[in-house]
Amino acid sequence: MRSPTPKRHHKAARLLLVAAALLVTGGLYAVVAPATSVAAPTPEETVARGQELFAVSCASCHGLNGEGAGLLNETAPSLIGVGAASVDFQMRTGRMPMANPYAQAPNKQNTFTAEEIAAISLYVASLGDGPAIPDPGQYDPSGLSAAEVAVGGDLFRTNCSACHNFQGSGGALPNGRVAPPLLDAEPIDIHEAMRTGPGEMPVFADGAIPDKDVRSMIAYLDQVHAQPSAGLTLGGLGPVSEGFWGWVAGLGILMLFATWITKKAARK
Ligand code: HEC
Ligand code: HEC
Repeated sequence: MRSPTPKRHHKAARLLLVAAALLVTGGLYAVVAPATSVAAPTPEETVARGQELFAVSCASCHGLNGEGAGLLNETAPSLIGVGAASVDFQMRTGRMPMANPYAQAPNKQNTFTAEEIAAISLYVASLGDGPAIPDPGQYDPSGLSAAEVAVGGDLFRTNCSACHNFQGSGGALPNGRVAPPLLDAEPIDIHEAMRTGPGEMPVFADGAIPDKDVRSMIAYLDQVHAQPSAGLTLGGLGPVSEGFWGWVAGLGILMLFATWITKKAARK
C-alpha cells in the first residue's frame, strides 16, 4: 500500500506558495502605497483641525470661539459646555450646520465625514465640559431580558410618549414644532438626544435615567418597531437587521400562539 502523503504534501505546498505570494504583495503594497495614514493625528492636531472646520462652517452663527450669537444669527446658542455628544448628534443627524436659522433644524443628510465630525466634536468639548460621545456599551440594546425590555417600555411611556407617541412615531408640539418619529433613530442617536436635549426636548441626565435603562428603552423601541401589526415600516435597515427583526417578530408570533393555545386548553 502506498501512502498518499506525497500528493497531500503537494497541495499544502501550493497553499503555502499562495499565502507567501499574498504576503509579499501585501508587504509591497504597504511599502509602495501613498503614506496617507502613517501617523494618526495627535489630539492637539485634531482639535486644531476641528477649530478650522468650525471657523468655516459654524462660527458665522455660533461665534468664532463657540460663544454663541455670531454675526449671522444672534439666537444661535453658546456651545461652551454642550459637549462632544451634542455636536456629534446635531451633525450626524444633519441638523447642523443649520441652513435656515428661523425654523426648527430638520434632520437631513449629513455631508461631513466621520473624521470631520469627530474633530469638531473634540474642539467643542475642549471649550468646556459636557456629555461625551457614548461608547457602544452605553447604548447597545442586545442581550437584555424580557423583564428589562418591559422596564424600558414603562420608562419610554412615562418620559417620552407625551411628545413622541407611545410607539415613537412622532407628534406635533403646541408651538408648531414637531417631535420627530424615532423609527430611523439609531441607538446612539437616542442616547445622545437624551443626554443633550436637542431643541425643545428636555435633557434626561445619567442621574435620572442611567445607561442601563437607556439600553432597555432602546430595546423596547426596537421591539415596537419590529412588530408588523404596528403598521410601521422598517425603513431600509438592510438585510442583516431585517433578517434579525424577522426572527424577533417570528418568535413573538409563536409566543402569542403558544399563549392562545394554553388559554384555550385552560378553559376546557
Ligand atoms: C445658520 C446658523 C447656524 C449654523 C451655520 C450652525 N448652527 Fe448650530 N445652531 C443654530 C441654532 C439657531 C441652534 C439652536 C437650535 C435649536 O434650539 O433647535 C443651534 C444649535 C446647535 C447645537 C445644540 C446646542 C445645545 O444646546 O445642545 C449644536 C451642538 C450646534 N448647533 C453645533 C453646530 C455646529 C458644529 C455647526 C457647524 C458644523 C453649526 N452648529 C452651524 C444655528 C446655526
Ligand atoms: C417635550 C417633548 C419631548 C420629550 C418629553 C421627549 N422628546 Fe425627544 N425630541 C423632541 C423634539 C422637539 C425633538 C427634535 C429636536 C430638534 O430637532 O431640534 C426630539 C428629538 C429626539 C430624537 C432625535 C430623532 C431624530 O430625528 O434625529 C430622539 C432620538 C429623541 N428625541 C428621543 C427621545 C426619548 C428617548 C425621550 C424620552 C426619554 C424623549 N425624546 C423625550 C421632543 C421631546
